[in-house]
Amino acid sequence: MISFSDRVRIDGRSLWSRNAVKGVSLRGERLKKDGKKEWRQWNPRASKLGAGLLKASESGLLPEPGSVCLYLGSGHGTTISYLHDHLCAAKNHLGGTIVAVDISSRCIRDLIKLSKTRPGILPVLGDCRQSEHISPFLSAKVPWLFQDVSQSGQVEMFIHSCHRFLAEKGTGILSLKSASERDTGSAFEHAQRSLLEAGFTLVERIDLSGWEDQHVLFHVVF
Ligand SMILES: C[S@@+](CC[C@H](N)C(=O)[O-])C[C@H]1O[C@@H](n2cnc3c(N)ncnc32)[C@H](O)[C@@H]1O
Repeated sequence: MISFSDRVRIDGRSLWSRNAVKGVSLRGERLKKDGKKEWRQWNPRASKLGAGLLKASESGLLPEPGSVCLYLGSGHGTTISYLHDHLCAAKNHLGGTIVAVDISSRCIRDLIKLSKTRPGILPVLGDCRQSEHISPFLSAKVPWLFQDVSQSGQVEMFIHSCHRFLAEKGTGILSLKSASERDTGSAFEHAQRSLLEAGFTLVERIDLSGWEDQHVLFHVVF
C-alpha cells in the first residue's frame, strides 16, 4: 500500500480516494468499505491527475488538504470529485476550496450539481485565457494550479495563468495533449522549453501512456 495522504492511496494496483459522500458512486466506480471508511476507486483512464499519481516518481502532485486550488478545464468534474475527497473531505470539514473553471455551460451545470453535495467546489463559467473571468473568485494567489484544457495554445495559457494566480514556490501541473497542438511531433519538447524559459523548475515530466496516450503531465514549481 502506498499512501499519498490519509485520503488517497494505491492499494494493490488501483488508486483509491476516501469517499466524502458515502454511498455515492459518481460514474459507476467501485466503492469499498473499510470499517467506518469508504474508499472510491479512482480510474486513471478518466483522470489525468489519477494517471499521474500512478506513474509519478516524484512526490508533491497533490495539494495540501484544506488549501485553495485553481483547476482550469474542470470538465464535468470527474477529477475534481477526487480532488475534493482529498482536499475537503466530508462536508468540507478540512476547509478546502477548489475554484473550478470551464468554458462550457453544460460542464458548469454538472459542477453546480456536484458542488451541492460536495461543499468547497466553486464552479466558475469562464475562459481561462481571460484572467478577469477568474480573479473575482480568488482573494490571494494559490499554492496549487492544475490545467487540463486540451486546446491549442495550452502552454502559453498555463504560463499566463501561473504568472497571474500561482503563489511563489507553488505547484503547477500542466496536462498536455500533443494532438491539440499544431506541431504534434514536437509539442512536448516545445512545452518543456517554454516552461523552463518562463522560469519554472521542472519537478517531473510524467508520460501518461498506458492510461492516456499522447498525454504528458508537466509538474513544475514556480
Ligand atoms: C479534457 S476536458 C477536462 C477533463 C477534466 N479535467 C477531468 O479530468 O475530469 C477539457 C475541458 O477544458 C474546457 N476548456 C477548453 N478550453 C477552455 C478555456 N479556454 N477555458 C476554460 N475551459 C476550457 C473544455 O470545455 C473541457 O471541459
